[in-house]
Amino acid sequence: MKDEIQQIQTDAVAAIGAAPDENCLDQARVAFLGKKGRLTAASAGMRSLSKEEKPVVGQLLNTARTVITDALEKRRATLQDAADRAALAGIDLTLPARPVHPGGLHPLTIVKDEAVRILRRLGFAIAAGPEIETEFHCFDALNTPADHPARNEKDTFYFDSGKLLRTHTSTVQIRTMETQAPPVRIIAPGSAYRRDEIDATHLSVFNQLEGLYVAEDVNLPDLKGTLEYFYQSLFGRDTELQFRPHFFPFTEPSFEIDIKLHTRGQRPRWIEIAGCGMVDPAVFEEICKSRGDDLYHPDKVTGFAFGMGLDRLAMIRWGIRDIRLLIENDTRFLRQFA
Ligand code: DAH
Repeated sequence: MKDEIQQIQTDAVAAIGAAPDENCLDQARVAFLGKKGRLTAASAGMRSLSKEEKPVVGQLLNTARTVITDALEKRRATLQDAADRAALAGIDLTLPARPVHPGGLHPLTIVKDEAVRILRRLGFAIAAGPEIETEFHCFDALNTPADHPARNEKDTFYFDSGKLLRTHTSTVQIRTMETQAPPVRIIAPGSAYRRDEIDATHLSVFNQLEGLYVAEDVNLPDLKGTLEYFYQSLFGRDTELQFRPHFFPFTEPSFEIDIKLHTRGQRPRWIEIAGCGMVDPAVFEEICKSRGDDLYHPDKVTGFAFGMGLDRLAMIRWGIRDIRLLIENDTRFLRQFA
């Protein structure tokens, strides 16, 4: 029996050493260690041995099992090693790697994030609305009469259904007041669409940021203070602003805000960056009608609103001369912001 075990061990080690691949190796394992394998069969013979012989033969069987298992593992590692090497044959691992181009934020995203961060500090929450809008939300509810130029077929993208691509994010003012009771303090960054001729300062899709604050006693100094804080946080403490009286159908009084732009080699000049004003009572009346209650009755609440182009903010911030650069995705341009 001892000789037999010795023989099995020798045969197993030889078969394992000669196995040319994983499959053959597994066959060898089954042939020697498997349920019907030779070593397993030999172990069964233990039963007929004498008390004295049992421990000696048992020891031999254990040793044989260990030796065979070790041989299997070693052979498996050798085969794996060869397979790895074959897979890499012809590949030069010492060549320098291809450069990885990590992404970066688009300049528009950078200004939008910054604007949102500043306004959230002041308690404004983010609101959103659809880009395909009704005429009611885009114009009528905003006190914009049917003959207003903004509603012109030439200037606005209409669908056959009568809906349109919103021409401004002021629609979100209406959507918010329709569904939320006052006080509301929201900002709405998003796309707006106009049928503009495309040039260095116009695209047919651009980005706006709308703001609305309605509560019991909101007044003009609140509006001025909020927007001064906003622009000085965005462009620096000594940023100069002017509030120039203007007309918007949905605010009264209304203003355009100009920022004093200092460009190297040029005289400083004022450039318009936003519209704003106190919400027109006519807008509140429309909201009351639409809601069917009087929570927004102009005797109960007042509010201010503002709207600005984010593209323009980015252009001012980095001195970008052509708005088209913001949509061309030229990495030579975008890399500068990453
Ligand atoms: N919606 C205006 C535009 O697209 C911008 C604007 C002006 C928004 C005055 C306002 C506002 O909320 O009060 O030109």
